[in-house]
Amino acid sequence: MRDDDEKRVEAILQLASQSADIAAMREDSMDFQADDPLESLVPSWFAAHLTSEWTAEDYRTLLSRPPLWIRSQRSSPKSVAEQLTRELGLEPQAVVASQVMPHAISCPTDSPVHTAPSYQSGQFEIQDISSQSLLELVYPTPKGHWLDACAGAGGKTLQLAALLGSQGSVTAYDPRSSALAELAKRARRAQLSNIEIETRKPEQVLFDGILVDAPCSGSGTWRRHPYLMRQTTEASVFEAAQLQAELLDTYAPLVAIGGTLVYSTCSLSRHENEGIVSDFLDSHSEFAWQPLASRFGLSDSGNGITVTPRIFDGDGLFVASFKRQ
Ligand SMILES: C[S@@+](CC[C@H](N)C(=O)[O-])C[C@H]1O[C@@H](n2cnc3c(N)ncnc32)[C@H](O)[C@@H]1O
Repeated sequence: MRDDDEKRVEAILQLASQSADIAAMREDSMDFQADDPLESLVPSWFAAHLTSEWTAEDYRTLLSRPPLWIRSQRSSPKSVAEQLTRELGLEPQAVVASQVMPHAISCPTDSPVHTAPSYQSGQFEIQDISSQSLLELVYPTPKGHWLDACAGAGGKTLQLAALLGSQGSVTAYDPRSSALAELAKRARRAQLSNIEIETRKPEQVLFDGILVDAPCSGSGTWRRHPYLMRQTTEASVFEAAQLQAELLDTYAPLVAIGGTLVYSTCSLSRHENEGIVSDFLDSHSEFAWQPLASRFGLSDSGNGITVTPRIFDGDGLFVASFKRQ
């Protein structure tokens, strides 16, 4: 094993030691030999779920911690980075605007950014860079009425509302009312007035666009939550896939003709990603695959895009887009 691999494994073990739940993982990990392949550091079922593009570098990144990413909401990323550096008393180059993602800024892992006055005043939100890339790849045209059907605490709702602008709006729904309450707070802080929060599941109403950011087994978030690597089972992947298919069936009829349906997960398993996309297209002839924007060196060859953690040094996720004809 190379030196930098060892450092990454050490970092995981250090993280692991912070949680009783993970203590067992630490002990298991002690059994690794110096020349163990990287695949042996992840659950044994995982490799068979990855796409053919997955590389050794992807494993190395998955086994390391990501920076903390934020998204500037009103001012330029450069000025937000400078202000945050001052407020947190960090070294001059510790907070840096991304060269590739329009509003992304990287901060040292575990920076207490939520304590900064610029966070309290809504200058930025905490949002992973890969998560930010999702809507940049969808590139919704300003205007239109969208539904964020699995809005959670609204990471993507806020970004979508900003991209749609004052001519567009977002209805945000999630079965967890506590998450919607948090979303309402974040929307106020961001001074976004084009978000409507819906506590009842939308029915019999049509939208120009629907985002189904589905619940998933979560392997794309393992860098941030290493204990999930141990907790996630192959059975949970197949359970998630069943719910994902049901959610697409539920929301597909609410897309207006000519409208867009976006499906995404923070899973790296093709069963929850490409598999769901091809089953959906097979069973919904009223929808056609709609290519995502070719940006960031990524392109959609017909089945969606997997953003691996390596690509932006963030989380992993999958996104695909369909048009109702
Ligand atoms: C991946 S998270 C969404 C994250 C959120 N979009 C964001 O960007 O922060 C999936 C969400 O789906 C919600 N969910 C679970 N079951 C659902 C259902 N049957 N219908 C709609 N949402 C559901 C969960 O409560 C969870 O908030």
